[in-house]
Amino acid sequence: MTKKLNIGLIGYGFMGRTHSNAYSQVNHFFDVPYEPVLQVVCGLEEKVAKNFAGQWGYKSYTTDWHKVIEDDKIDQVDICVPNNMHAEIAIAAAKAGKNIICEKPLALNGPQAETMVEAIEKAGVANLVSFNYRRVPAVTLAKMLIDEGRLGKIFHYRANFLQDWTISADVPQGGMATWRLDVKAAGSGVTGDLLAHCIDTAMWHNGQIDSVCAMTETFVKKRKHVETGKVEDVGIDDACTFICRFGNESLGNFESTRYARGHKALYTFEINGENASIAWDLHDLHRLSYFDHSDESIVRGWRSVHITDGDMPYMDKWWVPGLQIGYEHTFIHQIADFLENLAEGKPASPSFREALATQYVCDAVLASAKDKEWKTVKKT
Ligand SMILES: NC(=O)c1ccc[n+]([C@@H]2O[C@H](COP(=O)([O-])OP(=O)(O)OC[C@H]3O[C@@H](n4cnc5c(N)ncnc54)[C@H](O)[C@@H]3O)[C@@H](O)[C@H]2O)c1
Repeated sequence: MTKKLNIGLIGYGFMGRTHSNAYSQVNHFFDVPYEPVLQVVCGLEEKVAKNFAGQWGYKSYTTDWHKVIEDDKIDQVDICVPNNMHAEIAIAAAKAGKNIICEKPLALNGPQAETMVEAIEKAGVANLVSFNYRRVPAVTLAKMLIDEGRLGKIFHYRANFLQDWTISADVPQGGMATWRLDVKAAGSGVTGDLLAHCIDTAMWHNGQIDSVCAMTETFVKKRKHVETGKVEDVGIDDACTFICRFGNESLGNFESTRYARGHKALYTFEINGENASIAWDLHDLHRLSYFDHSDESIVRGWRSVHITDGDMPYMDKWWVPGLQIGYEHTFIHQIADFLENLAEGKPASPSFREALATQYVCDAVLASAKDKEWKTVKKT
């Protein structure tokens, strides 16, 4: 018997669509004990909210997020709005006793994220932050291989997240389409938007990051602001590169930019251990590259493992061996795991507290770039 779980979604943009799709699909593929019911969607424009509700099957719509929180029917609040709104909504939802799924980055900065962690832990509500790349089967398999000790001692972790969509100085900042370029809405640039993903995955794979040394650049220093109509200073980092030391003594090397012409969303990582190495590329997300030094030398080389067999993470729930899945499935996996944990009374991962650790790394990266010195990362 599945129990109904009433969902209130706040934000009908890019992530609102991926989460709605996940709620709609999860029971078709996963044997989870809950059935999400799309009760209400909230967004800024009434007409768009109404259309979205019709298209995805939400029973109602609103333009006031408080109504979602106040609605006793709603069991779970799903936060898919710009970063500067996460804290207020999550804290209100926690006080109202709702389960909370919040998009990343958790908050604008560490101190704000601390208030969120305090609120959800005090309320004791189920919570999850949507670092969905953990749920790409190849990325999950990398975690399994590391945990099995196949890599041996890890020496290096390097990750990149490269885009090219803000090179033109004509791209404005602020407003609904370009809130990511407005520091007041986003908190930071590529550090919180893109590197936060790489940091979350890296710490999941390789443990705590202890210290960082970073540089950032804002290549276009003034942009027109959509809301004021004035040309204003740009407060976000357009590009960020940092090196770091992990708690296990391995060295990290991370880069993100929105100025890498030719790259739309090139998220890659490579991990080098004593016995083996792993590499992954979002553009080819259903493959994991693996090099095992114990192979016989005449056939030793990088293998490109096609992640489609039923014994690979999540893949027994999908098609048949040889047929791959894609980006949207990571959100379905996330919801499936969340519902499974909810039924068993177990915490979901990454929790708000785990996302606070990522936020602390982001804060240390930005502080290091500003002060031009190594920074120690605060511990949760
Ligand atoms: N997990 C990922 O890979 C991933 C990818 C993209 C975005 N995100 C995160 O998801 C969040 C949303 O990003 P997006 O790309 O979906 O943004 P988006 O611009 O596509 O959508 C934002 C939504 O917020 C709504 N909104 C804004 N102000 C509001 C208000 N006052 N009341 C109600 N609704 C309001 C808008 O109507 C819109 O529906 C951000 O935190 C972002 O960092 C995560």
